[in-house]
Amino acid sequence: MSKSTDELFKNVISHAKEYGFVFPSSEIYDGLSAVYDYGQFGAELKNNIKTYWWKAMVQMNDNIVGIDSAIFMHPKIWKASGHVDGFSDPMIDNKDSKKRYRADQLLEDKIDRYDKDGKTDKAEQLQHDMDEALKAEDLPRLKELIIEHEIADPISGTRNWTDVRQFNLMFSTQMGAVADDADTIYLRPETAQGIFVNYLNVQKSGRMKIPFGIAQIGKAFRNEVIARQFIIRMREFEQMEMQFFVRPGTQKEWFNRWKETRLKWHLALGTDAAKYRYHEHTKLAHYADAAYDIEFEFPFGFKEVEGIHSRTDFDLSQHQQYSGKKMQYFDPELDPDTNKPYGNYIPYVIETSIGLDRMFLLTMINAYEEEDLSTEEKQDSRTVLRLHPCLAPVKAAIFPLTKKDGLPEKAREIMDRLKIDFNIQYEEKDAIGKRYRRQDAIGTPFCITVDHQTLEDNTVTIRHRDSMEQERVPADQLDKIISDFVSW
Ligand code: GAP
Repeated sequence: MSKSTDELFKNVISHAKEYGFVFPSSEIYDGLSAVYDYGQFGAELKNNIKTYWWKAMVQMNDNIVGIDSAIFMHPKIWKASGHVDGFSDPMIDNKDSKKRYRADQLLEDKIDRYDKDGKTDKAEQLQHDMDEALKAEDLPRLKELIIEHEIADPISGTRNWTDVRQFNLMFSTQMGAVADDADTIYLRPETAQGIFVNYLNVQKSGRMKIPFGIAQIGKAFRNEVIARQFIIRMREFEQMEMQFFVRPGTQKEWFNRWKETRLKWHLALGTDAAKYRYHEHTKLAHYADAAYDIEFEFPFGFKEVEGIHSRTDFDLSQHQQYSGKKMQYFDPELDPDTNKPYGNYIPYVIETSIGLDRMFLLTMINAYEEEDLSTEEKQDSRTVLRLHPCLAPVKAAIFPLTKKDGLPEKAREIMDRLKIDFNIQYEEKDAIGKRYRRQDAIGTPFCITVDHQTLEDNTVTIRHRDSMEQERVPADQLDKIISDFVSW
């Protein structure tokens, strides 16, 4: 990471805290690793991102519906889905520092080092050897590679390593009063399984016909061993997932369609297309026959924000086997080849899965700007969040020019009308210039000032966040002006 991007990222993190977007969890107790709380503006921004997704997925598609399934689910679900046996990372401990690391991460860091030092051959060889070992789940080989490439613990500096072991990422807890094995349940590591186990409930109660989708937004939990890069890798996070159920044999076509549709959703926010790229998975998860990530260029490099996975009929077939309940769908449509209904089958599934917290960070980073406003006469600058108006936590701020002469009352009267439709802030403290800066810092698209002229002709000044231009408009046109910008 170059110094300036490193600095920019640090500045975004401290800005997020200073202005009430993201706080470290349990901060007064020195925090809880990889867990964060969203503050007053963060919660608003997060809700707006959720709304943008929900509208695009559920409201705009008459064959997609949304559900809200419970976080706790029957433990057999995680056996069926493969998470109990397969959802783990290869871990290695250093005997001197007593620190635990992901073996593949240590190797990735070494590959980066080789690349930086211009040792491209070595980097490529190690990448190849690591991929082979991971594919074969050959844990002793991973350790061998760590030894061969003389990887030392960053803390103790020693190479005194344990064997590599698999470490399951699911959090477990006990349900009920008696703590025996039968009562062990898991905090879901993905929201998708809540959709799979409800797919027939939704299909029947909603009379859905294939192809159709089920969407869900909700918390997921993973005991990530390496917590990195702020809210990129958290132990408690939120996902926005959609499972799209299709006729077997059509999955490729739908996979390509959703891959494109989802990237368009990102770009519709006005983000520079060069900041995004697809990454094709060569090492597929146990359930997938194709997978692409949508990656965004964060200050620390391209990172996955969303996954599009072709999950075959793996999950539904597994649930049929483990629950003993039929997971088939009856397709009444005629197959043009046979002129008979397609009949009973287990649908194939295309999944789109986006991390809400990563989308949140991406949005903050994209919007954050330290703008130099200096003129020949004086030095000046501002920090502004150029958020898309639809995503901005506060849509307009309303300021009485002074705290007297009936201006506060008039400003509150206008606010009371506007707040029915928009999230509005009222501010009367400090000079107007300072109030503008505070609103710029949280990304408020409009600042409305009520002055003495307002009392005479009911006009106000409205100041635009990005251009900082001001215009005088009738107060009763404010609803329309704001809504033209912030409506979806
Ligand atoms: N149902 C499929 C699934 O969960 P995934 O690639 O493991 O797939 C999907 O996760 C998305 O969830 C990722 O693209 C990422 O944005 C987000 N995500 C995964 N683990 C995360 C973590 N520890 N912290 C924050 N976001 C995470």
